[in-house]
Amino acid sequence: MNLHVVRSRALTGEVGVPGDKSITHRALLLGALSSSNVYIRNYLDSADCLATLGCLRALGVQIARRQAEVVVHGRGMHGWREPADVLDCIRSGTTMRLLSGLLAGQPFMSVLSGRAQLRARPMSRIIMPLQQMGAHISGRAANRLPPLCIQGSKLSGIHYRSPIASAQVSSSILLAGLYAEGITTIIEPERSRDHTVRMLRARGVPVAVEGASQSLVGPVASLDALDVCIPGDISSAAFFLVAGLLVPGSSLGLKSVGVNPTRTGLLDALQGMGVQIVLQNERDEGGEPVADILVHHQDLHGVTVGGSMIPRMIDEIPILALAATQAEGETIIRDVGELRVKETDRIATIVGVLRAMGARIEASEDSLIIQGPTPLHGAFINSEGDHRIAMMAAVAGLIAAGDTFVSHLERIQDSFPGFVPKLVALAPGAVQ
Ligand code: S3P
Repeated sequence: MNLHVVRSRALTGEVGVPGDKSITHRALLLGALSSSNVYIRNYLDSADCLATLGCLRALGVQIARRQAEVVVHGRGMHGWREPADVLDCIRSGTTMRLLSGLLAGQPFMSVLSGRAQLRARPMSRIIMPLQQMGAHISGRAANRLPPLCIQGSKLSGIHYRSPIASAQVSSSILLAGLYAEGITTIIEPERSRDHTVRMLRARGVPVAVEGASQSLVGPVASLDALDVCIPGDISSAAFFLVAGLLVPGSSLGLKSVGVNPTRTGLLDALQGMGVQIVLQNERDEGGEPVADILVHHQDLHGVTVGGSMIPRMIDEIPILALAATQAEGETIIRDVGELRVKETDRIATIVGVLRAMGARIEASEDSLIIQGPTPLHGAFINSEGDHRIAMMAAVAGLIAAGDTFVSHLERIQDSFPGFVPKLVALAPGAVQ
């Protein structure tokens, strides 16, 4: 299915943003280990989160799904049962990596697989440290790729220095640490999103954090059952935020967006490009900072970003690159080699999409260099089934001359099921 987009008039009004993907995955997993029922409000009903939900059901956890709420019937730390079939993680790397950490310490066998896109993503980053903890876990292609086979075993804590800043890796190790004897410590080269730490602490597990090091003492006997309301996903808000900046005359309010400082790299990068973004009604909801974000059309200038900012906006690089095509001067985005192993090789897909629309963009192994401002023109965009690339191309279409067609529209469901209806409501006539 293709999306057809043409240049839009000003975007105005308020946009509600769906629940955070990372927090929804974790709320489901930790809920399933809790000692009693857990209510999760404003959960993200996306294909990726449904993958986690489906795997948990296959592990014997009852979950009732309602309109804006799920009820997870927690079975305690030792209540999951051996799945009768392969656990289908569909296209969700978070499901596969976080669940593997938890399954490594269970007294049964499990096999995790998914669609071709997920079966091409690197798993040695979790297999190696989990094996060091004593896990019996293996993958195909010399332990690099899914499917993963886990024969649960006794685990012991490790002191692990990860070569990459990845919340999926650090979370997988910390979650395995819940079942391991002794101290589990994971040190990242830069801090990644810290939702796992916040959520474990809120459920009664002390986690020590010092810089980019996180540790806990296992085994943990129980997790407190805690109801949650999931904040809006800043990674989804990002598409409307940049649309509001780029479409002339626009003024948008994004309601109840999670502004955890380990996720707000895009706001810092845009501020570095001379943009004013207003946060209103800042508050704490269930241990996560939340705010309403106001944005209006503004001129941007180039910026250089890299280092510790990158893990704080790893999913926002496609939309930042689009913003950079409209900024005066040069934008350099460094240290983004991790983009090569996302749903697609995002360095290649970003360059492919933006060049097809007339942008001046170059890439190296781990960086992007963009010259602006460049007027964009419509094109037929192959989003290669990557939800964030498809959404970035749709926003690009709003400022491009002529017609933009975006392929694999249905994949947007992976993270933002309501994206297209919201875009149609904001830009009537410009999106079909
Ligand atoms: C996620 C972490 C990020 C991000 C992904 C979700 C998570 O991956 O790209 O969309 O929920 O932990 P890495 O931490 O592996 O970069």
